[in-house]
Amino acid sequence: MKKLVVIIAGTPGVGKTTVGRRVAKALDAEFIDVPELVRRGRLYEYYDRSLRTYVVDEKRLEEGVNEAITALGRGCVVVASHIIPKIKPIHDVRVVVIRLNPLSLIKRLERRGYPRRKIIANTEAEFIGVVYSEAVRLYGVDRVIQLDATGLNPADTVSKVLKTLKGLEGDHIDWLSSLSEHDIEKLIRFLSKK
Ligand SMILES: Nc1ncnc2c1ncn2[C@@H]1O[C@H](COP(=O)(O)OP(=O)(O)O)[C@@H](O)[C@H]1O
Ligand SMILES: [Mg+2]
Repeated sequence: MKKLVVIIAGTPGVGKTTVGRRVAKALDAEFIDVPELVRRGRLYEYYDRSLRTYVVDEKRLEEGVNEAITALGRGCVVVASHIIPKIKPIHDVRVVVIRLNPLSLIKRLERRGYPRRKIIANTEAEFIGVVYSEAVRLYGVDRVIQLDATGLNPADTVSKVLKTLKGLEGDHIDWLSSLSEHDIEKLIRFLSKK
């Protein structure tokens, strides 16, 4: 059965799980949190101790996500993931990439107690828009939108996601040109202290 699959994507820490769960509730949709699926289904190759992260087996992840989508009852499924999975083409896929000012992301990941190396890797990815590029590569610009969640609370971010799903435009995001010179300097100082 053809389903609407909404992928809530973004760098770790931007709020995918929090927002995705609430968006699913608002849409009366099923919810799949990919990191949870990976842990439960052991869809990883190994655990990287120094980065404190599971290294995902992407092929098995893709199979796992597609199987879960097929198995779930409702016609709409929300998937929260920082890896963009290839969903079977029978489904209608929309990707919402949540973005967060890299300096806010650093604070959030520090609060999570992530190792410094992991914070740097994720902040660099957010800065240049790695997840957005991957989403566009897989699904094309027409099926991918971005939302800036900087300074918003989860409820406001959820409303923003729901509005864009109804057809409102997303945000244009380019941290390099939108951050002040002072913030760019602060960011570079942080990223270079490896
Ligand atoms: N606008 C927002 N949207 C989502 N989460 C937010 C927001 N503002 C603050 N937060 C907090 O940031 C954290 C995001 O964590 P989580 O949803 O697990 O992120 P992710 O799944 O992307 O790694 C939560 O503690 C959440 O309460
Ligand atoms: Mg999450």
